[in-house]
Amino acid sequence: MQRYWIPELKPGIHFVGSRDWDRRMFDALVPLPEGTSYNAYLVVGSEAVALVDTVNPGFEPELLDKVHQILGDRPLDYIVMNHAEPDHAGGIPAVRKRYPDAQVLATRRGADMAGLYFGVPEDARQVVSDGDNLNLGDKTLRFIEAPMLHWPETMFTYVEEDRVLLTCDFFGSHTAAGLFSDEDDDLIPRMQRYFGEIMMPYRRMGARALGKINDLDIDIIGPSHGPVHREIEPVLSRYQSWTRGDMANKVLIAYVSMWGSTRAMAHQMAQSLGDLGVEVRLYDILTTDTAEIARDLVDAKAIVLGAPTVLAGMHPVGVNAANLVRALRPPASYAAVLSSHGWSGGAMKQVEEVLGATDLEMVGYLDIQGPATAEVLAQVDELAEKIAERLSG
Ligand code: FEO
Repeated sequence: MQRYWIPELKPGIHFVGSRDWDRRMFDALVPLPEGTSYNAYLVVGSEAVALVDTVNPGFEPELLDKVHQILGDRPLDYIVMNHAEPDHAGGIPAVRKRYPDAQVLATRRGADMAGLYFGVPEDARQVVSDGDNLNLGDKTLRFIEAPMLHWPETMFTYVEEDRVLLTCDFFGSHTAAGLFSDEDDDLIPRMQRYFGEIMMPYRRMGARALGKINDLDIDIIGPSHGPVHREIEPVLSRYQSWTRGDMANKVLIAYVSMWGSTRAMAHQMAQSLGDLGVEVRLYDILTTDTAEIARDLVDAKAIVLGAPTVLAGMHPVGVNAANLVRALRPPASYAAVLSSHGWSGGAMKQVEEVLGATDLEMVGYLDIQGPATAEVLAQVDELAEKIAERLSG
């Protein structure tokens, strides 16, 4: 059996998760340029032992070896399932096979999912509710229901004596590297990217969850992706800001172009807004990691979508971007559209249908035939001024 280096976050709280350096995609949607990790925590009390979350399928042997390295012949008594998605709960069947007497603890919804997804029989499931405690001897686990982060069954687990809060996806980031976030220079952009792609649609539930942990004394936050947080305040304050929907004086411009007309308008928009003192992020959707767009949607006040007409409708790449905006529900207040066509329009109608289902106020749009002439670029400047006025207002 391979011998692992297993960090001990506090006496008796061991980091037994896995690093997935090779994974490049999550949910067939989110690019993972730096891989990710599946953090699991073994809490060893004087009377009983609990494993909080497991690992993605495929990493069970590593998890079981680590648990055995800590416990030897001592049994595992509990598996706490903070979240049922398989990247954290997919290891439950293997853990139960090794430790068949271990009880699986989860919220009501979570317990049902443990049965449905992982075949945990009813007599091995234990439902916990908000504020319930589990006594492990010299350690006590307290459960905090935190639903819809980003599934309905989610909860946090707090180790009272050690002031360690284990939050699964919440406060996470996708990287296989590092152990502590205070050693990570890219922490905030990486966390913002993760928040944008996973938590932003549920930010009101996130704010509610933050309210529940407001009075907790916390030394360590252990999420189930990315590094562990020992410095709590910077992480909490960012999450408070993002869940509130605080926005910067910032415009996200995302475009796709076939023959350069939409591109020219998008670049003119970026130039013009920049000249007006507005922070701008400009992306060619075709070559952009969509999670970068999600990251900037977290605090952009306006969104400009650029896409031409093709086959009598909006270019499919542009439709995808519009759908992403609708699905991620960013806090942005304003939108504008830049479009172009060769001989027949159609993109505008489609984008209005998609963005019409959001709370975005349409500041204006331009749909031109053919090249982006000087006259067109002047119209872009006018639209940029309107956007800047809305932002400052
Ligand atoms: Fe990391 Fe929602 O699973």
